[in-house]
Amino acid sequence: MRCKRVFLVGFMCSGKSTLGKALAEALDWSFLDVDRVLEEREGMSIPEIFERRGEEYFRKREFEVLKELSNLEKVVISTGGGLGANIKAMELMKSKGLVVWLKLDFETFLERCAEDSSRPLLRKSKEELIELMKEREKVYSLSHLSLDSKADCEENVKKILLACQKSYKGL
Ligand code: S3P
Repeated sequence: MRCKRVFLVGFMCSGKSTLGKALAEALDWSFLDVDRVLEEREGMSIPEIFERRGEEYFRKREFEVLKELSNLEKVVISTGGGLGANIKAMELMKSKGLVVWLKLDFETFLERCAEDSSRPLLRKSKEELIELMKEREKVYSLSHLSLDSKADCEENVKKILLACQKSYKGL
């Protein structure tokens, strides 16, 4: 297998953590979530970081954590919805491993995510969220592979394993 890392990108509530854990288990690799690592480093939850330090600080720190984690091997890395939509982060991830986009339609996003208070961006209006998703998809779509977030998790794991076995330029 030539790929050393898999990065999962996608909008909030697309199931990156669930898929990432199942994939890491199948590969016998480690699973890392950039948000969880950042929370540990800062000693604060994501909403607290947004409240106390501001979104700009959060965006800077999540990218720094990603850069650091990207040097590890045999890791599945889950990224926050904003990080995977950052073109610089996308370029970095594509140079370091296989990037997988978990695609989510807006209705399913609302069903899954509407009542969640742990995601500061959910304070936005429905119209703003639709626009945000549309904008972010321009970057997510640059991923090596896109998968349906509503598909069976094990099926998605199999597809990633297959993609991992193929050679991707630069991996
Ligand atoms: C964010 C998504 C969250 C988290 C933060 C900001 C975003 O991660 O990074 O609340 O900008 O979409 P998930 O995508 O895991 O919800």
